[in-house]
Amino acid sequence: MKIISSPSEINHLCNNLKLEGKTIGLVPTMGALHDGHLSLIKRAKKENEICIVSVFVNPTQFNNAKDLETYPRDLNKDATLLETVSCDYLFAPKADEIYSEEEKNTTFKFDFQGLDKVMEGPRRPGHFNGVVQIVSKLFTLIQPHKAYFGEKDFQQVAIIRLMTQTMKFDIEICPCPILRAENGLALSSRNELLTENEKQIATNIFHVLNESKTKTDKLSVKELINWVENELNAIQPLQVEYYEIVDGTTLQPISSWNETNDIVGCITVYCGNVRLIDNIRYK
Ligand code: PAJ
Repeated sequence: MKIISSPSEINHLCNNLKLEGKTIGLVPTMGALHDGHLSLIKRAKKENEICIVSVFVNPTQFNNAKDLETYPRDLNKDATLLETVSCDYLFAPKADEIYSEEEKNTTFKFDFQGLDKVMEGPRRPGHFNGVVQIVSKLFTLIQPHKAYFGEKDFQQVAIIRLMTQTMKFDIEICPCPILRAENGLALSSRNELLTENEKQIATNIFHVLNESKTKTDKLSVKELINWVENELNAIQPLQVEYYEIVDGTTLQPISSWNETNDIVGCITVYCGNVRLIDNIRYK
């Protein structure tokens, strides 16, 4: 695997690969790689001749300076893990190589068509502007045929899909299923911040969501939201920040089960101080 940090070098390389007729799959990440990331990378490797993984802790998508500062960074460890799945190129630029001072300090403008008005959007102001800013930059530099994103960040996938359409990138967006630990907990870099006991308690998030799927014939959407919130809030130290049941494309809350055939429940729960997100598909 070759490690590249210069944006112009990766751009030059990808132009040449495309001239040679090679297919390129891109997996954007912020590092601290775990098996969830690796599931995307394995799929990209299978479906493309060349697999590129980017590792970049994107400062413009953090709305909390402390969170940015403490975000886990270990490029050597990530590189070793990437070798085990035969990744071809690791693109790991520095913030100064990616952004001008002005770009770093001004919010990237994008018309989210309402996708930023729900769930994570209002709770993390500017977050999705930063995500669109970095992913559109990576798309421009690398111009992959396919790009892979985890459905764990359900809202992020919807926003990247919209961005790809409106900015007219000729790139196929490939959503990948949530990889869970055997006990059901969705894999996340943040799980490392939980104690062993909290990790065990956090598995209730998946179990309650999963059980809620059996109740859609008895409970209305509103009643089911209340049921999920009450079940989880009764377990110490879980505290639901929101549970929304939405149309999987528009992300707008639904009010009845027969409104659409694309229904997903998205949740954010604090386990102590650690903010965990998860989701489940109803149909
Ligand atoms: P990061 O949190 O590092 O995640 C990189 C990718 O891995 C995302 O598409 C995320 O949804 C996916 N992922 C994380 N945990 C997963 C799991 N348990 N199962 C399946 N996929 C999982 O998301 C970002 O980085 C950033 O916002 C980024 C898109 C790289 C832009 O900076």
